[in-house]
Amino acid sequence: MKTYNVGILGATGAVGREMLNVLGERHFPIGELKLFASINSKGKEIEFMGKKYYVEVATPDSFKGLDLVLGATSNALAKEFAPSIVEAGAVFIDNSSAFRMLDDVPLVVPQINPEDIFKHKGIIANPNCSTIIALMGLNPLNKLSKIKYVYATTFQAVSGAGANGPIELMEENLLLSDEYKNGKMPINVEYDNKVFPHQIASNVIPQIGSDTGNLYTTEEMKMQNEGRKIMHNPNMSVNCTCVRVPVIRSHSISLTAVCEDKVDIKALKEQIKKEEGILLCDDLDNKEYPMPILTSDQDTVYVGRIRYDLVNEKGITMFVCGDQVRKGAATNAIEIALKLFDIR
Ligand SMILES: NC(=O)c1ccc[n+]([C@@H]2O[C@H](COP(=O)([O-])OP(=O)(O)OC[C@H]3O[C@@H](n4cnc5c(N)ncnc54)[C@H](OP(=O)(O)O)[C@@H]3O)[C@@H](O)[C@H]2O)c1
Repeated sequence: MKTYNVGILGATGAVGREMLNVLGERHFPIGELKLFASINSKGKEIEFMGKKYYVEVATPDSFKGLDLVLGATSNALAKEFAPSIVEAGAVFIDNSSAFRMLDDVPLVVPQINPEDIFKHKGIIANPNCSTIIALMGLNPLNKLSKIKYVYATTFQAVSGAGANGPIELMEENLLLSDEYKNGKMPINVEYDNKVFPHQIASNVIPQIGSDTGNLYTTEEMKMQNEGRKIMHNPNMSVNCTCVRVPVIRSHSISLTAVCEDKVDIKALKEQIKKEEGILLCDDLDNKEYPMPILTSDQDTVYVGRIRYDLVNEKGITMFVCGDQVRKGAATNAIEIALKLFDIR
């Protein structure tokens, strides 16, 4: 069987570590495996499929002989290393937002626009995590009637901010528990928060990213800009509010999409059942709906709470939930690689 030499740039982070899990689960035919991170992780031992690997510091010469580099670092590092990766002849599937909106870089969710993978010129971008999860839910609706516009509110897990996000939440939670044990019902804790702009324990923060000039944040504008490119729907408008919530893992999104025509909910549910990678989870009487505790640590995006919009008769409201480290990042990237190399 043909094998592929694979590198992971950012192998020690939240997404990089999950990439290793997914590569193993999907039996990706790996020849050589190189794990790259910062100087802080140099020499760190990581076991993969029963074999020990040692983390290397990435340099421009690191990528020679590789077929595939999976990117799981910042925009700045992705930009720094992309030229050497492409020059080395490897395909760079990148999780940062550095290249997503460039015309010659495909932006792909394999269940939605797999054909775009093959237009790459060395770089393929993995979309924003909330965008992937929202579009997995919206795609079946769009197949029944083209979506004109979407209202979205996200509930984003702390692990979406990297490996240090859950640590900050858990440490704040411990301080809250200490006070509770001392007979108090605390709201605020004394903690030097570094990952989030405010205390995240017992709180929700309606800011992810910074103002793009219209009072919508960088994270909020991704849903529209990336959604248009992935869905090949340049006129789709998205009004999004992104909120950080004290959930460890899995992003949830409340969506109302207005289509060109009225869509029958029964037909939509049938369509959802036909799609790969999503699961209809929608039985209010039996308290069944998508929730982070159901969708974490697996790849399927759950769709539920489907109902007609009470404001616009051509609108459908739904709630979607998916693991943003897996389908929102690592799994999506590896699914792109599997299609790219035609690995079944
Ligand atoms: N977390 C998510 O849910 C999620 C979802 C979708 C997309 N993304 C995107 O994926 C990327 C990675 O996010 P993450 O959450 O995994 O971040 P993270 O947990 O903070 O990990 C960052 C990784 O980058 C490495 N790194 C730092 N400096 C480096 C250097 N000079 N050379 C090589 N590697 C270096 C780190 O290594 P050290 O451990 O040595 O510092 C670590 O492996 C980001 O662009 C993020 O926006 C994240």
